[in-house]
Amino acid sequence: MNWFAAEHRLLVTHGVAAALALTVVGGLLPLHIRLAWRIRRNLWSGAFTLIIMGLLGLSGWFLYYGDEEWREITRWLHIAVGLLSCAVVPFHVWMGRRRSAKQQAPQALPTQVGKESLATNCAP
Ligand code: HEM
Ligand code: HEM
Repeated sequence: MNWFAAEHRLLVTHGVAAALALTVVGGLLPLHIRLAWRIRRNLWSGAFTLIIMGLLGLSGWFLYYGDEEWREITRWLHIAVGLLSCAVVPFHVWMGRRRSAKQQAPQALPTQVGKESLATNCAP
């Protein structure tokens, strides 16, 4: 097994995935995040997700352009936040879906029915 080639392939895959992830987060800002923020829905897990994604981007930036002296610590910070993001993002999605499902349940108060969707509830 050629470890150098394998590492290179992994970094290239990571680079593409990281660019896509930042594009998705950027795409969520004007609607998903702005609207949910306004009505304070799923706020804590959302804010935490946003912070984690921000830290990932920031530590990635430091890996590229930061001082060489700080590289080792930045590297471990980046890896730790990256691993954390694997739990934080699915947790946020789960929390959001659970909340929506609860509000759509038949026993929901009549005033709640129809208010569950971010799209219908928060037309800009
Ligand atoms: C980088 C940050 C974020 C990512 C990647 C993200 C991603 C997601 C995803 C994939 C879902 C599931 C959507 C579905 O099942 O249809 C979701 C649900 C949700 N998120 Fe976020 N989110 C982020 C930040 C936020 C923030 C900051 C807030 C609140 C201020 C928020 C509020 C919500 C709400 C309320 C739901 C439930 C959706 C609904 O009721 O229809 N999210 N999020
Ligand atoms: C928004 C998401 C992310 C961005 C923008 C990002 C950005 C970056 C950048 C710019 C580098 C430097 C690449 C290079 O030296 O050629 C890097 C390296 C790395 N990233 Fe990420 N990354 C993200 C997500 C993740 C995740 C989820 C993990 C998983 C734990 C991860 C693990 C790593 C590792 C192991 C390295 C190599 C560090 C080294 O040995 O120098 N990254 N990342």
